[in-house]
Amino acid sequence: MKRRGERIAVLTCYDVLFARILEEAGVDMILVGDSLGQVVLGHDSTLPVTVEAMIHHAGAVRRGAPGTFVVVDLPFLSYQISPEEALRNAGRIMVEAGAEAVKLEGGDPRTLETVERLVAAGIPVMGHLGLTPQSVHALGGYRVQGREGEAAERLRQEARALQEAGCFSLVLELIPGPLAEEISEASAIPTIGIGAGVGCDGQVLVLPDALGMNPGFTPRFLKRFADLHGPALEGARAYVREVREGSYPGDDHTFPGGGG
Ligand code: KIV
Repeated sequence: MKRRGERIAVLTCYDVLFARILEEAGVDMILVGDSLGQVVLGHDSTLPVTVEAMIHHAGAVRRGAPGTFVVVDLPFLSYQISPEEALRNAGRIMVEAGAEAVKLEGGDPRTLETVERLVAAGIPVMGHLGLTPQSVHALGGYRVQGREGEAAERLRQEARALQEAGCFSLVLELIPGPLAEEISEASAIPTIGIGAGVGCDGQVLVLPDALGMNPGFTPRFLKRFADLHGPALEGARAYVREVREGSYPGDDHTFPGGGG
């Protein structure tokens, strides 16, 4: 798609119902992100997410979107300890969840070694640079990365190195638009931006944020493409009201017969 100049539309997903919707909508790729920890499991970071949780949710997404390319995040500490452990965990995700690829964060020399190891085993790997949420405490919070010259240069070098290590694509999260555009133009592999401007080859958003299910979350880069929170709340309130007043279930919802 990059070679053809076509922009790539990616959304995250964590369950079968939305996976069906995303496949019907024609997204190019689904990311089962470890944002699962925050938007589905209620943690305040991605750090508590386990390989088991990723497999559990990715399996549901796979069943809901059998015809869509599914990438699954390698969660915190599933790939940082050693390339062998990374291979074991990535292999489980590929086999048990039926993923097409995995994603990992960072571009330091140890991560590059791990990427090479996974790619050599036949596992497609997506990189992730910029704001890398698994390092949120080391980065001092969820803030834009690569604003200063030295940090921007490090991102340029890491993007190049991840491509050379064999990544097939690269997420760029929360970096200035001009820098993301420059990295995208210099890369043969597609870049997928989130909070990185329109110069990337594709875009990704966290699904509940994009569909307006998380009304308190309002970063600058986010656009709400629907407001599901309002209708869902209205529906739940209507149900509570009708059950309490005895108007649901009515005759239409009740099986006749069987009386004495
Ligand atoms: O976990 C996730 O959802 C992600 C995206 C924000 C890129 O990594």
